Amino acid sequence: MSLIIIAAHDPNLVIGRDGTLPWHYSEDLKFFKKTTMGHPLLMGRGVFEELKEKPLPGRENVVLSRSKKYDHVPVFSEIKDALQYLSNHEKVFIIGGGEIYRQTLDIADELVITEIKKEYEGDVFFPEYRDKIGTIWKETWREDHDNLSFMRYLRVKP
Ligand SMILES: NC(=O)c1ccc[n+]([C@@H]2O[C@H](COP(=O)([O-])OP(=O)(O)OC[C@H]3O[C@@H](n4cnc5c(N)ncnc54)[C@H](OP(=O)(O)O)[C@@H]3O)[C@@H](O)[C@H]2O)c1
Repeated sequence: MSLIIIAAHDPNLVIGRDGTLPWHYSEDLKFFKKTTMGHPLLMGRGVFEELKEKPLPGRENVVLSRSKKYDHVPVFSEIKDALQYLSNHEKVFIIGGGEIYRQTLDIADELVITEIKKEYEGDVFFPEYRDKIGTIWKETWREDHDNLSFMRYLRVKP
């Protein structure tokens, strides 16, 4: 199973503000949908609440929470148990938010990053990884647009 983090951040690694995204870029939403469609999504309770507790269609939605249970989606109180549950899938996408990105950056196989070019105010940040590009993370693909760039980084295997 390949564990893939997918996230969009601004130049200062801002990813969220007041429980939601600080921006709206329809090309990024389309990219997210196309990239993740058909694959399971692993998310924190914060993201699931942002989705108004409605699972994203066409993908199995799995939630991490130590405080809540939902009848309509699997919930795990440990990341390792969620990954065990999803272990027969070829790819699993970790879709945030900040707490979950921080806890999974060290075990992710791949990063799919949207670099937003404009700066935003924020209260949730993606963990620092850019200092390890070229050592731990190898850029494998990029696509530049006017307002953002789509990037892929693969973990360099020792
Ligand atoms: N730009 C992007 O790509 C992007 C992507 C996703 C989210 N975001 C933004 O990020 C923000 C939300 O992030 P967040 O950090 O506040 O919340 P989050 O990471 O979505 O969820 C945090 C919650 O997850 C649960 N949790 C955390 N670690 C856990 C673990 N090891 N095991 C089980 N449960 C665990 C806890 O729930 P309990 O308290 O219930 O235990 C915790 O309160 C929003 O602003 C959102 O818009 C941005």
